[in-house]
Amino acid sequence: MKILVLHGPNLNLLGTREPDVYGSLTLDDIDSRLVEKGRELGVEVTSQQSNQEGVLIDALQDARKWADGVIFNPGGYTHTSVALRDAIAAIGIPVVEVHLSNVYAREEFRHTSLISAVCKGKITGFGWKSYMLGLYALVADFD
Ligand code: DQA
Repeated sequence: MKILVLHGPNLNLLGTREPDVYGSLTLDDIDSRLVEKGRELGVEVTSQQSNQEGVLIDALQDARKWADGVIFNPGGYTHTSVALRDAIAAIGIPVVEVHLSNVYAREEFRHTSLISAVCKGKITGFGWKSYMLGLYALVADFD
């Protein structure tokens, strides 16, 4: 099984960006933990980050060719991007929406997600562990 972890804008600044909201781990720290957990689960995890909407769309379209699922934190584009929603709807592989912070405990504009309805599900508020829970959601077999 192969999983793409896709990080949107400003997530490259994790570690120094509003650590009280997003925690103190860097993006590399989070990605390494996901690769490690993937190894334990027998899953190949590949990570990518971009601040550009079009690059994120290209990554989603490309994932259709090789990935079994996507863990996606679209950052601020969550609340604005029809184009990312359309890309998720188009690719036909499961996408789990994840957020480090609990978007519902924050400003009202963060309560709207244009992508949730086309995602398999959504995890929000568990810090870096939101990504880990996203990985389990895609691969774990609880039978
Ligand atoms: C975020 C929440 C978004 O509202 C914000 O714009 C981000 C990060 C999160 O992971 O909590 O950039 O997606």
